[in-house]
Amino acid sequence: MHSAIVTGAAGFIGSTLTEDLLHHGVQVLAIDSLDKYYSPDIKTRRLALLRERGAAIAIDKLQHMDLLPLVENHDVIFHTAGQPGVRGSWGRQFQSYEDNNVLATQRLLEAVRQSHRRPSVVYSSSSSVYGNASSYPTLENHLPQPYSPYGVTKLAAEHLMTLYASNFQLKTASLRYFTVYGPRQRPDMAFRRFIDAALKGDQVEVYGDGNQIRDFTYVDDVIRANISAAASAETAPGGVYNVCGGSTVRLIEAIELIGTIIGRPLRVKHAQAATGDVRQTGGDSTHFTRVTGWQPEVKLTEGLSRMVQWQIHDELLK
Ligand code: UGA
Repeated sequence: MHSAIVTGAAGFIGSTLTEDLLHHGVQVLAIDSLDKYYSPDIKTRRLALLRERGAAIAIDKLQHMDLLPLVENHDVIFHTAGQPGVRGSWGRQFQSYEDNNVLATQRLLEAVRQSHRRPSVVYSSSSSVYGNASSYPTLENHLPQPYSPYGVTKLAAEHLMTLYASNFQLKTASLRYFTVYGPRQRPDMAFRRFIDAALKGDQVEVYGDGNQIRDFTYVDDVIRANISAAASAETAPGGVYNVCGGSTVRLIEAIELIGTIIGRPLRVKHAQAATGDVRQTGGDSTHFTRVTGWQPEVKLTEGLSRMVQWQIHDELLK
């Protein structure tokens, strides 16, 4: 891979991935719309840093761009852009999910289809496509039954990937990430909020009883998964893979662990359970391992320790 486009390049996963690609000598076009879901200022600063490190930058929504000439010039597209957040996808907000997750993906795939270069596309999908799964650990061939409107749009975009692969022989891979955490995690996500509150001495707010289970996945493992998937998109087009961290715990156990790392127990207050929030996630990533050799490497204690250090020290990239 000599050149790549990263969509959503100012985001949590997109910016970490862009930095890694640049570090390995890949030419990167970093695209981001600086959406206001969370601080555009932080995203602008991240893009400035990526530009300093050699990335070309384009600030716009994929739906509004003339993508064809951009797509013609790159080997791989890492499509991390999208409207994130399970709990905010109800009501009028759904429009943003439909627009930024489904329509944007379709526009990107159309550009790839029309190009001569036909770059591979690696899509950032989500474990939220499963909903409350029928069994655990969940496999890719289990019936996806999203439990949130967000999950519906992630599944729709994933289907677009596979159907463009089968109809037009595009080289695609979709990665179902399970609750990714680590430095630069979005400010609405659980660990980011818990660590912030704990460092300030505030109470952490747990939605529901805290017994929900998540298969937490460290961001560096997700970055390696993207690189592996770029190759698998060529050898096994249309693939759909679980990318999970093997750190499956109850939320309250993770809160205890954060307390141990910080050196004092967290004070917890309970709020109402969030609609759309599944009771449990837990994936089996054997299929992805078989195709690419990828395996998660960072366990929860190590990953959370690194995240705490980042939240204490790294102001710039927050
Ligand atoms: C995360 C991401 O936000 C989604 O974009 C992604 O698609 C999804 O993972 C996935 O892997 O499918 P979620 O599992 O809800 O969604 O991740 P967190 O925001 O870290 O929440 C984990 C749990 O903590 C949830 O049960 C949530 O309700 C709870 N939580 C979150 C709290 O109790 N308090 C908070 O302040 C925030």
